[in-house]
Amino acid sequence: MGLFYIHTYLILEFALKLYIMLMMYLSERPNRVEGVYMKTKIINIDDNNINAALIKEAALILQGGGTVAFPTETVYGLGANALDPTAVSKIFAAKGRPSDNPLIVHVADTRDVEPLVDHIPEIAKRLMKAFWPGPLTLIFDKNENVPASVTAGLGTVAVRMPSHPIARQLIRMSGVPVAAPSANLSGKPSPTSSEHVVNDLTGRVDAIVCGKASDVGLESTVLDVTGEVPVILRPGGVTKEEVVKAVGACTIDPALENIMSKDMTPKSPGMKYVHYAPEADLYVYEGKAKSVIAHIGHLNTQYEAQGLKVGIMTCDEHIDAYTTGVIKSLGSIKDMNMLAANLFAVLRDFDKEEVDIILSEGFPQEGIGHALMNRLLKAAGHRVVKI
Ligand code: TXA
Ligand code: MG
Repeated sequence: MGLFYIHTYLILEFALKLYIMLMMYLSERPNRVEGVYMKTKIINIDDNNINAALIKEAALILQGGGTVAFPTETVYGLGANALDPTAVSKIFAAKGRPSDNPLIVHVADTRDVEPLVDHIPEIAKRLMKAFWPGPLTLIFDKNENVPASVTAGLGTVAVRMPSHPIARQLIRMSGVPVAAPSANLSGKPSPTSSEHVVNDLTGRVDAIVCGKASDVGLESTVLDVTGEVPVILRPGGVTKEEVVKAVGACTIDPALENIMSKDMTPKSPGMKYVHYAPEADLYVYEGKAKSVIAHIGHLNTQYEAQGLKVGIMTCDEHIDAYTTGVIKSLGSIKDMNMLAANLFAVLRDFDKEEVDIILSEGFPQEGIGHALMNRLLKAAGHRVVKI
């Protein structure tokens, strides 16, 4: 009898150990839900003292057809060899990105543009001189070297030369043009710090190069230079005013100006997707500061009475006007660049705090504010209320 109990005890103990080991194994496999799993190498690099050997390691992965996330001055990107369709397909799989959304090809030098495009228009040359390296993506007519998967079958290709020293050295050392969308899971806010990338892509990419937080914090401006007058397809780090100053004229894709209209299809495929969205529903309130603050305060009281955890997104100047809720400031309204740089990180912070709903103030649509509000309204699914 005693022997029977000992045997049962041993079997149960063995089963328990097996169960614990299985749980540990599964918990070490983050993001495995969609079937992509690989070992992700984390490569920490000091932006101020770049270790060439570490860059080389990441560059070799790109050369070998692997995927590497890396910092840029706008947001972190997820790179692969743009000339290798198999490598490019890994980007789409890792992000869960729709295949009809084309990628930006990143180069380290202006001379690397020619092998990708049909021709370089005069106006593009002037823009490259004025803004490269930096947060401006140019749309060219493509040539046959660029695989259809990079451009989602379009006859044009998007090209950008980032200014971030890690990005530049990595692309140069890899010796290939690097296709790189933002390094977030599709639909989530773009990653502006290595922590965001590690959270989204561990187990889904070959390597993540971790540097410091992105300076600009919003993606590059996408500018179509295939026509006579450049057209902004996505507002971003370079403003319309700056483009006008450099080349005399610039228009904005009418579908972006009428973002409330469901009838117009933006020329940049990516702009039609729900994007940048935090987990909680986000609402934006626009109008005179006093009325907006009063309205958000009133709603906050109502929602809290219903037992909801409310996030409030504001600026330094208004933060003291709110008393309860999870209150987060994007920075001082006097520094629009700061507000832009903080937006995606603050949206992710609300996710961490597990708020049920986010109420945000609207911000001035001047300069970079245009890009900021573009992203904020998309994150809100255009739930915007004028007070
Ligand atoms: O700042 C940035 O641009 C970042 C960093 C990593 O460089 N990249 C980035 O990539 O934001 P992504 O894939 O998240 O956004 C690229 C945008 C999408 O809206 C896409 O539809 C558009 O550029 N795009 C790419 N190729 C295009 C083309 N040939 N014509 C029109 N739009 C294009
Ligand atoms: Mg993106």
